[in-house]
Amino acid sequence: MVERLQGKRIMITGAAQGIGLAIAEACAREGAALLLIDRDNDLLQDIATRLRNHGASLLHRTADITDRDAITAAVNEARHEIGEINALINNAGVNVFAEALASTDEDWDRCFDINLKGAWNCCRTVLPAMVAAKNGVILNIASTHAFTIIRHTFPYPLAKHALLGMTKSLGLEYAGEGIRVNALAPGYVATQKVLDYWNSFPDPAAAKAETMKLHPGGRIAAPEEIAMAAVFMISDECTFLNAACLTVDGGLSVQQHP
Ligand SMILES: NC(=O)c1ccc[n+]([C@@H]2O[C@H](COP(=O)([O-])OP(=O)(O)OC[C@H]3O[C@@H](n4cnc5c(N)ncnc54)[C@H](O)[C@@H]3O)[C@@H](O)[C@H]2O)c1
Repeated sequence: MVERLQGKRIMITGAAQGIGLAIAEACAREGAALLLIDRDNDLLQDIATRLRNHGASLLHRTADITDRDAITAAVNEARHEIGEINALINNAGVNVFAEALASTDEDWDRCFDINLKGAWNCCRTVLPAMVAAKNGVILNIASTHAFTIIRHTFPYPLAKHALLGMTKSLGLEYAGEGIRVNALAPGYVATQKVLDYWNSFPDPAAAKAETMKLHPGGRIAAPEEIAMAAVFMISDECTFLNAACLTVDGGLSVQQHP
């Protein structure tokens, strides 16, 4: 069987659960070596042990993507353990949802520090070696919030719009150096984040039913369905895909009314 990611040494942030975990599992299956980053130490340890037991070549480091020194240290260690990182998947992100005027300075800082600056921290750490090698690929996990707005989710969509802007900017900046930078925009995906969102409503079951109804297919995505799109985008099967955004939302953002 051909492994689609052989030769890729992929740094994945937010790899301990949800979409990041599904991406890590899929990339390991496809023959990549991995640097897994998450700030949740216990979850990350468990995942790393499980993947190693399945034969994956990986290094894991507990780090917050807002801590540039910690990210630099992890990438430096990876260089010795698995080789120079030649692919980055910026997946770690947090929901920060409020009505605009009710949102606080702390909301704003947390949202932009993690969802935007954290991703940039990781890009700027791996890009120099990619430029030197004239080879590399970066995938930013954005969201349909990167081009549509749901009221009362301020300022999360602003940060995701900006992440898409960064994708285009870096994609153009380094295209001549053999580097591709793309974004993947999921709609709703069945992860803890979405469960927490439903649980924030007085009637979580009704909130869940409403979400399902929004989707043309009557369901939301499984994390594995996002992961397989990520594998394609990171692989050498789409070497002319650059500065682009692939929406994987089951048609959610196309229809005007459910
Ligand atoms: N779940 C969805 O419906 C959905 C939809 C669209 C986009 N997204 C995006 O996909 C990405 C993953 O979402 P998910 O639903 O799998 O989330 P999740 O909450 O299930 O998992 C996120 C992981 O990232 C880690 N993390 C968060 N902040 C971090 C930081 N500062 N440093 C290091 N690690 C950090 C968490 O510990 C966690 O393990 C996010 O960028 C999110 O915005 C999710």
